[in-house]
Amino acid sequence: MNPSAMYAGTFDPITLGHVDLISRAAGIFPRLILAVARHPPKRTLFDVDERVAIAREALAHLPNVEVEPFDGLLVEHARRRGVRVLVRGLRAFSDFEFEFQMALTNRKLAPDIETLFLMPSEEFSYVSSSTVRQIAELGGDAQSFVPPAAWAALQRRTASLGSTGEGRSDAH
Ligand code: COA
Repeated sequence: MNPSAMYAGTFDPITLGHVDLISRAAGIFPRLILAVARHPPKRTLFDVDERVAIAREALAHLPNVEVEPFDGLLVEHARRRGVRVLVRGLRAFSDFEFEFQMALTNRKLAPDIETLFLMPSEEFSYVSSSTVRQIAELGGDAQSFVPPAAWAALQRRTASLGSTGEGRSDAH
């Protein structure tokens, strides 16, 4: 059996909560693929190449983690990569309904693929990418929520949005 796992998400940008979960998964599986959705069902601040680059820099200390973009159905991408385990994080009870629906949908689409849930450290249980983006966009300090690569990218992006007056860049 392929000993790899895949953790998919938007990672707009990757947070310390994600890094915590990824570190836990990378400690269990010999190889972890971080699959960054090219076209997630929500608008993004960073395009997919930026989200991949930020995550790669943030995870450079984890040699068994590979970061790559993906298109289309997650289970199809996992199959193409020979992966049978999808990792997801459960931060709080409020995550459960969405995660339950997604895991059962993925199981229906691909009964050979299992979803495995891990809990991030409680220190990060309230962190989300949208909160971090909002703090940065409003000029606040979100450094304690994200890896340095993400904070640098957020500062560059919010400075350039502020100077041009433009809206968000969108990967779609
Ligand atoms: N620490 C910090 N934040 C976390 C977290 C953790 N451990 N786990 C989740 N989050 C946050 C994210 O920051 C994000 O916050 P935001 O919405 O405020 O930005 C939110 O929880 C969920 O994001 P994420 O975990 O990245 O998942 P997602 O919902 O963006 O990704 C996909 C969903 C991409 C995996 C899913 O849409 C997908 O598989 N798409 C492909 C199409 C497909 O196969 N569809 C059928 C499946 S149902």
